[in-house]
Amino acid sequence: MSKEKFTVTAALPYANGPLHLGHVAGVYLPSDIFVRFLRMNGHDVAFICGSDEHGAAITLRAKKEGITPQEIVDKYNGIIGKAFKDFDISFDIFHRTSAEIHHETAQDFFKVLDEKGHFTKETSEQYFDEEFQQFLADRYITGTCPNCGHEEAYGDQCENCGSALSPTDLKHPKSTLSGKTPVMKSTSHWYLPMERHEDWLKSWIKEGKLDGIQQHDASKWRNQVIGQCMSWIDNGLRPRAMTRDLDWGVKVPVEGGDGKVLYVWLDAPIGYISATKQWAKDNGKKWEDYWTGDRKLVHFIGKDNIVFHAIIFPILLKAHEGFVLPDNVPAYEFLNLEGDKFSTSRNWAVWLHEYIESYPDKIDELKYTLTAIAPETKDSEFTWKEFQTRVNSELADILGNFVNRALVLTQKYYAGAVPSIGTLTEQDKEVLAEMEAIPSRISKLIYTYKLREAQAEAMNLARLGNKYLADTEPWKLVKDEANAERVQTIMNIALQITANLSIVLQPFLPSTAAKLSEFIDLKSTTWERAGKADLLASGHLTSKPSILFQKIEDELVNNEVEKLNATKQADSLFEPQKDETSFDDFMKMDIRLGTILEAEKVKKADKLLKLLVDTGLDKRTIVSGIAEHYTPEEVIGKTVSVLMNLAPRKIRGVESQGMILMAENADGELSFISPEKGFEAGSGIR
Ligand code: 2FM
Ligand code: ZN
Repeated sequence: MSKEKFTVTAALPYANGPLHLGHVAGVYLPSDIFVRFLRMNGHDVAFICGSDEHGAAITLRAKKEGITPQEIVDKYNGIIGKAFKDFDISFDIFHRTSAEIHHETAQDFFKVLDEKGHFTKETSEQYFDEEFQQFLADRYITGTCPNCGHEEAYGDQCENCGSALSPTDLKHPKSTLSGKTPVMKSTSHWYLPMERHEDWLKSWIKEGKLDGIQQHDASKWRNQVIGQCMSWIDNGLRPRAMTRDLDWGVKVPVEGGDGKVLYVWLDAPIGYISATKQWAKDNGKKWEDYWTGDRKLVHFIGKDNIVFHAIIFPILLKAHEGFVLPDNVPAYEFLNLEGDKFSTSRNWAVWLHEYIESYPDKIDELKYTLTAIAPETKDSEFTWKEFQTRVNSELADILGNFVNRALVLTQKYYAGAVPSIGTLTEQDKEVLAEMEAIPSRISKLIYTYKLREAQAEAMNLARLGNKYLADTEPWKLVKDEANAERVQTIMNIALQITANLSIVLQPFLPSTAAKLSEFIDLKSTTWERAGKADLLASGHLTSKPSILFQKIEDELVNNEVEKLNATKQADSLFEPQKDETSFDDFMKMDIRLGTILEAEKVKKADKLLKLLVDTGLDKRTIVSGIAEHYTPEEVIGKTVSVLMNLAPRKIRGVESQGMILMAENADGELSFISPEKGFEAGSGIR
């Protein structure tokens, strides 16, 4: 293939939490493999990523953690950026949308579109949370998805079926701030009239043609990407609001924009451009070269990002003029974990940074497994058992075993020197022909974004080598001096296969490939050399190998599965966390210590005790449902927690003026919540 220019982007992760294996398998690892392969082939590549630091994903997380949005994005940009580095994802830049250069770039972009008349300004009724005095868009509002019935769809997208939504599409809308049903209130916003773009989008997506000129090869686009876009277009494109009434984000840079910011899905993809600008600036390049002309722009994303990258961003790029449109948008389906969806809130996840911490010497093992099971065309599943099988039966038994045999025998028979090649048998010729064919098959698969098959093809070379040695058994032949030349030929071929492995594995298992090159002292490992049978000259010195892959013990699998199951148990033993409450609401509750002065059973009520409690302010009667757990004698004298301002209510004819707070464990046993120091009745609890 001739040398081409590629700008490859990987979806900017929200800086609102760490990365889990689902993110890695469906975006970052495949894009990294693709880019490593392009670089090995001498293409001019920029590999761009960064963190997405605006939008409700950030502000809501900040609220949950009780820190500022800036603190949230700083924290997670750090954790995510470090995990990428440790996992050796080879971005040219990992940038941030909170950077000044991004704010400027996004604002300029907006101004150009506004000046060119690509927006309309409309005043309309939008959902509003009266309690919080805030308009509700995106993640500030949830409801039932009109397409798939998922009950937790957001105001701008359903993460279950991937469709892009507007708040008014949701059934049973609910504010995520107050939990209440919102009211309607009037506000003005800039809208992108997407319906104006319907015609060109259809032929561009389906046929790859723009104004009759071929732009991309639509046969390389995944069915689910074309399918999702066409169903969105066929349902009728509508104007979509590009601004929001919020204070966290990129400020709207035109008149009337006070108090408003750009919609996060407008600003985030522009983040690819601003990151390129920063990288170009740091490296003496021109950023425009990476976004104009005959460049292939490729966006690696998860399926929930399809319409934003294949419809909305292309509309923006085309409307702005001068930018290339994506050549492909390889979108991945979702990865599940041990029979369930990855879930941050339920902690049902394997976090990348935690994996790296636990298994710093097993990076390629994870890469191999994730690529082997990547959700390219349908959802797939990671299990620790599968991880063990892939590592033990494929990496260790096939690849590791072959390389080890080839190099150890070379040490033993020839003190590490590559023997010369003699007369070839039919079998030798077949093996060499197959070795030559594999790299071009891998290339074809990678250029069509079939990375899972491409890796399997690379492993086939190790399989070929393993089988070749098993079939020819040089360790038996060597016993007879008459076979000396035959053994030399076999070992030469085995070493050429090893050298080829160090090339074809490089995109997938970079550190393993580097170790292999080191064992055989192979300096040049560009892709064009792959397939050749003369990578190692006779007499060239190889060294003694170390073990490439340690087997994964059952203990590791059991520990990891147990760790996950413990999460699940904790999940089912206790009620899930209740909906968020505000600090103000919490402060409305008056909770104090009270000392129980008297206690007696309530007649004809097995569960109830009538208590007289000294609250520091007064002595009051409280009826409490603890009689099956405590006798009256046991409770007298105890200092406990009392909810003071609960509206009085009559229980079995007795007026109860408050409530005793109790802890309840998983077995349903009750316990008072008492001070650990001798605090007196009346002390406040907050
Ligand atoms: O879905 C997400 O995680 C988004 N933060 C992806 C943004 S991709 C790009 F457009 F920036
Ligand atoms: Zn849905």
